[in-house]
Amino acid sequence: MDFSLTEEHIMIRDAARDFAQTELLPGVIERDNTQTFPKELVRKMGDLGFMGIMVDPKYGGSGMDAISYVLIMEELSKIDASASVMVSVNNSLVCYGLEAFGTEEQKQKYLTKVATGEQIGAFCLSEPEAGSDATSQKTTAIDKGDHYVINGTKNWITNGGRADVYLVIAQTDKEKGHKGINAFIVEKGTPGFDIGPKEDKLGIRGSDTHTLQFNDVKVPKENRIGEDGFGFKFAMKTLSGGRIGIASQALGIAAGAYELALKYSKERKAFGTEICNHQAIAFKLADMHTEIEAARMLVMKAAWDKDQGNNYDMSSAMAKLYASKVAMEQTVEAVQIHGGNGFVKEYHVERLMRDAKITQIYEGTSEIQKIVISRGVIRD
Ligand code: CAA
Repeated sequence: MDFSLTEEHIMIRDAARDFAQTELLPGVIERDNTQTFPKELVRKMGDLGFMGIMVDPKYGGSGMDAISYVLIMEELSKIDASASVMVSVNNSLVCYGLEAFGTEEQKQKYLTKVATGEQIGAFCLSEPEAGSDATSQKTTAIDKGDHYVINGTKNWITNGGRADVYLVIAQTDKEKGHKGINAFIVEKGTPGFDIGPKEDKLGIRGSDTHTLQFNDVKVPKENRIGEDGFGFKFAMKTLSGGRIGIASQALGIAAGAYELALKYSKERKAFGTEICNHQAIAFKLADMHTEIEAARMLVMKAAWDKDQGNNYDMSSAMAKLYASKVAMEQTVEAVQIHGGNGFVKEYHVERLMRDAKITQIYEGTSEIQKIVISRGVIRD
């Protein structure tokens, strides 16, 4: 067993850290206030290879491993979780979904563009009445011979307004339950496909989240991913990797807040000394450091499982469950260490605390992760 990073991994981590400090940090508070994220920054992340980290270079990707992916995600998330969710969804849900299960034509037409960041992808599974209960899809896709006709509503879609390529999960045969679900590639601008207003959110406010409406949207048959009825398994397999991305996002949010709290505690004085010298604060720092390191181990283990070709359904669920809990708890502690300043935007920790909450909700709530883990524990 070797816990050290390779020189290449350290270089990749440092490149992401440098990008986050020089490009993401300036303007992060304003982007949170205005709920915006400039195209220019997305393009820069694409230029650095962050939008298709694990994709084969023959499809325009960076050809890196999952360890590199989580290192990049952690560094981006320390500064701007809105940027990192864009990266996570594009990489783990859209690029992976297309590369692992798409046809060669689909890869050439769509993956080559989303892997470079020339285009952005979105993953459309959640619905008003099908969030955690993902098999209860109400969106329908009716087989019309050479095409399908999609009708329905998708909710809380990350990159919903900004994306060009949408992977849409829909019910093609209600009688067959989850075996009658399919996944489709839908292009922005397809007639009948409408993007609703942007959600006004608690956290990750720079990332655009929308409701999407499908009214008699015609999608050619060649845009179905996989065999007929593969859509639910497609979603589950893709989300297993997505959960590694969100776990590393949660880890980064926690680590970013911890680093700020540590620095602040060495500068801020109270009762005649820096506050880190008071045991009340020192013990908080000890707990934060330990919890974050434990989360990092779980995140790395899940990424390692993926790189080794092991099954990572359980390890990704455990990493997400634990890292998101750590993110929530430790960002609250970071605000507490900052005292009154922690409540003020310019100190960044209140934003990280707000950003942390979504990591316990999207790509499967903590309760869903416990279903996945407990089923695995009982089965094995
Ligand atoms: N890999 C492959 N197949 C899988 C699988 C996996 N990881 N998990 C389940 N399956 C298969 C099962 O084997 C079963 O197939 P068979 O009948 O052939 O054996 C089938 O899928 C149905 O599985 P279950 O009976 O376990 O289904 P369930 O109804 O009990 O649901 C669940 C399981 C884990 C709760 C699932 O519904 C789930 O993960 N829900 C959460 C959905 C979610 O994460 N949504 C997030 C939205 S996406 C998002 O947030 C993106 C974003 O924008 C940030």
